[in-house]
Amino acid sequence: MKAAVYYQNGNPDVLKYEDVPDPVCHPKGVVIRVEAVSVEGGDTLNRWHGALTSKPHVVGYQAGGEIIEVGAEVKVLKVGQKVTTVFGQGSHAALRALPARNAWPVPKGFDIKLAAAIPVPFGTADDCLFEFGHLKAGETVLVQAGASGVGVAAIQLAKRAGATVLATASSDERLERLKSLGLDHGINYRTSDVAKSVMKITDNKGVNLVVDPVGGATLQGSILSLAYRGRISMVGAAGREAMTVDVSPLMAGNRSLTGVFLGAEIGTDRAHNMIQRLIDEAARGEFKVVIDRTFPLSEAAAAHAYIESRQAVGRVLLIP
Ligand SMILES: NC(=O)c1ccc[n+]([C@@H]2O[C@H](COP(=O)([O-])OP(=O)(O)OC[C@H]3O[C@@H](n4cnc5c(N)ncnc54)[C@H](OP(=O)(O)O)[C@@H]3O)[C@@H](O)[C@H]2O)c1
Repeated sequence: MKAAVYYQNGNPDVLKYEDVPDPVCHPKGVVIRVEAVSVEGGDTLNRWHGALTSKPHVVGYQAGGEIIEVGAEVKVLKVGQKVTTVFGQGSHAALRALPARNAWPVPKGFDIKLAAAIPVPFGTADDCLFEFGHLKAGETVLVQAGASGVGVAAIQLAKRAGATVLATASSDERLERLKSLGLDHGINYRTSDVAKSVMKITDNKGVNLVVDPVGGATLQGSILSLAYRGRISMVGAAGREAMTVDVSPLMAGNRSLTGVFLGAEIGTDRAHNMIQRLIDEAARGEFKVVIDRTFPLSEAAAAHAYIESRQAVGRVLLIP
C-alpha cells in the first residue's frame, strides 16, 4: 500500500510517499481502506520529536474509512461498514489495521471526511470542559488556541452548554472565523496581553475555566486569567516550549490545574460512548466539523507544513 512515512524526526520534509507492506488484521482487530486522514496537532508533534515504532514509521492518530477485513473474534463490526478510527500511529496510509475497539461506526449518510475529524478533537474538548473541567451553564470559559482542532470543538461545546466563550488566536482574521461557531470575545495574543484582556472583558472577575492546549508561556497567562476557584484543563504543548510556570496564584484563589489526556481514557466505556455520542450529534448537525483544506496523501509533507504555518482553522485532511 501507499503511505506517508518517515525514517527520522524533523521538519515536514522528512515525510516521503512510499510503498510499504499491507497491514495484517489481528483476531480482535479490523483493517480499513482509509478515505480521509485527519491530521492532528499530535501528529505534527510526533513527526517533530516522537518515538518511531518502526522504520519507516507511519505517523497519525485519526482516520475514517470502510472496513475491508474483520478479525475472527470481532462480533460488533462488519466488512463494508464505514467507521472513524483512533490509534497510536498508522493513519497516514491507504490501509490501516487497528483494534476493533478503536473504531466507531459512522451513521449512514454522514460524510466520512467529517466523521474522520471528530473523535480526538471533540472527545478531548468534551473531557476538558465537562469530565475534568466541570463546566456549568452560566460560567465563562477561555479557550487558548481557539482556531486549533481542539479549540474549534471546545468553543462550540462550551457555547452549547450555556457558557460565555473567550478564545485566543494569533491573528484577528483567525478570530473572525470563530465567531460563527459561538465565540463571544476574541483575544489576539500577538497584539494584546491575554490575562489583562480577560480581566477587562470579565469586569476583573476572571474566567471559571481555561482549556489550554498550548502550554509554556501561554499556560502562565491561563493561570493569571482565572477567577476565584477557577480551573484549568491543561491538555497540550502546541507551543513547543518548556512548561516552566509560577503556580503560586493558584493557592491564594483556591484555583486548580488539571492535566487531561484522552489517550488514557479512550479505552473506557465512558470515553468510547462519549465519542460515539459526539459522532451521532455531528451527524444530526448539532455542531460543525470545520475542515480548512484537503491535500492528497502524496502531499503529506505540504499538509504538515501548511498546518505549521498557522493558517488552518480547524482540521486539515489527507485523501489517499
Ligand atoms: N492531551 C490530550 O488528550 C490531547 C488530545 C488532542 C490534542 N492534544 C494536544 O493539543 C494541542 C493542540 O492540538 P490540535 O490538534 O488542536 O492542534 P492544531 O489543530 O494543529 O492547532 C495548534 C494551534 O496551536 C497554536 N500554536 C501556539 N503556539 C504554536 C506553535 N509554537 N506552533 C504551532 N502552533 C502553535 C496555533 O494557533 P495560533 O496560531 O492561533 O496560536 C495552532 O493553530 C497539541 O499539543 C496536541 O498534542 C492533546
